[in-house]
Amino acid sequence: MRTIAITAGKGGVGKTTLASNLSISLNKMGFKTCVLDANFTAPDLGTHFGINADTTLWDVLEGKEPIEHAIYGHDCGLHIIPGSTGVENFKQGTYKKLKRKIRTLKYDFLILDTPPGLGDDAISALGPAKEILVVANPEWTSLSNAYRVYKTAQKMKKNVLGIILNRHLAHEYEPDSGTIEKFTGLKVLGEIPEDVSVRRSIAVQNPVALSYPDSEATLEIEKIAARIGGIDYKRRLSVVHRFLNFFGLFA
Ligand SMILES: Nc1ncnc2c1ncn2[C@@H]1O[C@H](COP(=O)(O)OP(=O)(O)OP(=O)(O)O)[C@@H](O)[C@H]1O
Ligand SMILES: [Mg+2]
Repeated sequence: MRTIAITAGKGGVGKTTLASNLSISLNKMGFKTCVLDANFTAPDLGTHFGINADTTLWDVLEGKEPIEHAIYGHDCGLHIIPGSTGVENFKQGTYKKLKRKIRTLKYDFLILDTPPGLGDDAISALGPAKEILVVANPEWTSLSNAYRVYKTAQKMKKNVLGIILNRHLAHEYEPDSGTIEKFTGLKVLGEIPEDVSVRRSIAVQNPVALSYPDSEATLEIEKIAARIGGIDYKRRLSVVHRFLNFFGLFA
């Protein structure tokens, strides 16, 4: 099982958006996938999917329920382990416990959504994962903090796959991917555009890969999934969809 933590140096850059939609895409491509909310600070994964969980990861960590009871099977085939919306907080040892609990899971991919930054919780959340995917917005504040997370993950001997640039606008003031690779030493694995479909999908609590499957954001996330899964990816938007997307008519 490949366990990948989605991490970032800052909050609100798109970790949960990437974790949920990447998982949907990997699952769609035939990889048995589960996405788990390992962000105890802001556990938003259930909200992104519109899940109101009775049993959460917290019940599992408290030893009240086996992990299988906290798995929600989504209609799209993806398995989801939501976090608690209560006020339970990270404690020393929480992520070590999590690492033990996930050992029994059998998936091709287990994707972990994690807390932001470089606090104790965010660093410990990398513990259960073997591989790390860093998310940042294409601006220097976000990138310099992403770099710090990258270096921390490297010290922890994690395999850092690369960086995903989210909310990419291709404006002249944004550093380009070549400059970012040079500055961070991280491979740019994808550039997800700023796309109103993402915000609309969160409003209806149905991730963009499901609610707007032909949006620009979904297409880029699918390319990232194919890259990570090591498969050939062919799907393209029709000219009509590109035209409508350009004018914001399709999304
Ligand atoms: N590509 C995008 N285009 C437009 N809006 C986006 C995009 N990605 C994310 N957003 C917006 O940014 C908000 C924050 O995204 P998300 O919840 O994924 O960030 P996060 O890094 O998980 O935040 P936190 O650090 O709180 O866990 C979303 O609610 C959405 O409105
Ligand atoms: Mg989040």
